[in-house]
Amino acid sequence: MKVDVLLGLQWGDEGKGKIVDVLSPKYDIIARFQGGPNAGHTIEFEGKKFVLHTIPSGIFIDKSINVIGNGVIIDPFILKSEITKLKDANIPIGSNLLVSRKAHVIMPTHRLLDAVYEKSKGKDKIGSTLKGIGPTYTDKVSRNGLRVGDIEAEDFAERYQKARARHMNIINNFNYDLDEFVFDGFKFDEYEKQWMQALETLKGLEKINSEYYLNNALKEGKKILAEGAQGTMLDIDFGSYPFVTSSNTITAGVCNGLGIAPTNVGRVFGIFKAYCTRVGSGPFPTELFDNDGEEMRKIGHEFGATTGRPRRCGWLDLHALKYAIMLNGVTDLMMMKADVLNTFEEIKVATSYDYKGNNTSEIPYELVLDDDFKANFKSFKGWKNELKDCSNYSDFPEELTNYIKYIEQETNTPINIVSIGPDRSETILK
Ligand code: GDP
Ligand code: IMO
Ligand code: MG
Repeated sequence: MKVDVLLGLQWGDEGKGKIVDVLSPKYDIIARFQGGPNAGHTIEFEGKKFVLHTIPSGIFIDKSINVIGNGVIIDPFILKSEITKLKDANIPIGSNLLVSRKAHVIMPTHRLLDAVYEKSKGKDKIGSTLKGIGPTYTDKVSRNGLRVGDIEAEDFAERYQKARARHMNIINNFNYDLDEFVFDGFKFDEYEKQWMQALETLKGLEKINSEYYLNNALKEGKKILAEGAQGTMLDIDFGSYPFVTSSNTITAGVCNGLGIAPTNVGRVFGIFKAYCTRVGSGPFPTELFDNDGEEMRKIGHEFGATTGRPRRCGWLDLHALKYAIMLNGVTDLMMMKADVLNTFEEIKVATSYDYKGNNTSEIPYELVLDDDFKANFKSFKGWKNELKDCSNYSDFPEELTNYIKYIEQETNTPINIVSIGPDRSETILK
């Protein structure tokens, strides 16, 4: 058996949570491999809506085992509130949720550092979700981090205080009034108390050496789906640096985020929206500032699942999509939110960029969207039809079929799922 991978090909929020939930019944184990509570994965079914931040999106399927892998970073406070919401909705949490001992822990001072760094950047800010992602991964790489497995160590309190003091030293240099920073409704001191209490919930979860657990499961013939967070264009190495997140969001992240050998990676499901969105700062070559962009935001409810911020909207960027397919080795494409374009007369796709007068076959080293930059578009006739009654590809309006075929041809990759609404049931399989 091999590990199949599902990940985002754009700037996040492609609809990963929805499709993991749809595919979960076919798998034994769903494993998150990177990112942290900067993610917001929405799942809708039977009139209910859930947003997950740390917990894998297989949690609603009875037989699924959900693993939070070593590549993920965990905020005990946010994890506790996710678990509470699920339990309140009668979703059982117990042996169906396993946590890697090697996953790193987001401390309250990581969140404070994130807030202080962003504030100090002024107009150059990244637009971070302020969940402490950058500082926690920084501590991991600089060998200063705290891991889930450390929580039960006798000297945990000492190690916590040492890390806290180191963070506070940096924070105090900025001379900000710390009372201006609020975390989930709490000022720092109160948030830290809540965080300490939430550690007990994390202590109560089953911890595993996830690399052994997953490799043994493969040997036993179990089927594993790796769930990505964020998207390829937010990857720390290949995204629009520095406007990126702090982990490898691409297929390679599965290897170090779960301890899976590259030879054990199977199919790679790449998710993209029929258009594009981005939340936070950074270049967005197909961004729309007109009525079309406003319509996409309104019809697609394009507001962040984690922060509630309005998402920037624009046309599909095929040039960037091809880059993402190359980096991830995508075997199957899944096109989301086709229904959001139902009312559009004309639909556009960016096919290439001109940069300093030259047509670029590559994504430029640095995307500076000044007068030297131009995205070239191809136009399609809109389908101007509801898709509610479609249950097969053959039911799609001709214009939508043409759009799908064009993308398949250009990317040389089949689109095997088209999503036509947020609900689990609004999913058309090829
Ligand atoms: P993720 O982070 O990739 O899991 O995506 P998010 O949950 O942040 O954002 C996707 C949003 O689109 C959620 O509100 C979903 O409920 C919604 N959604 C997913 N698929 C579709 C679709 O096909 N059509 C519409 N209209 N909404 C969708
Ligand atoms: P999911 O998994 C969309 C963006 C932030 C910011 C940048 C860095 O739901 O698709 P960070 O908090 O990592 O320091 O933020 O990355 N970002 C996301 N955008 N979806 C996400 O996750 C994101 N996670 C981070 O808005 O621009
Ligand atoms: Mg999201």
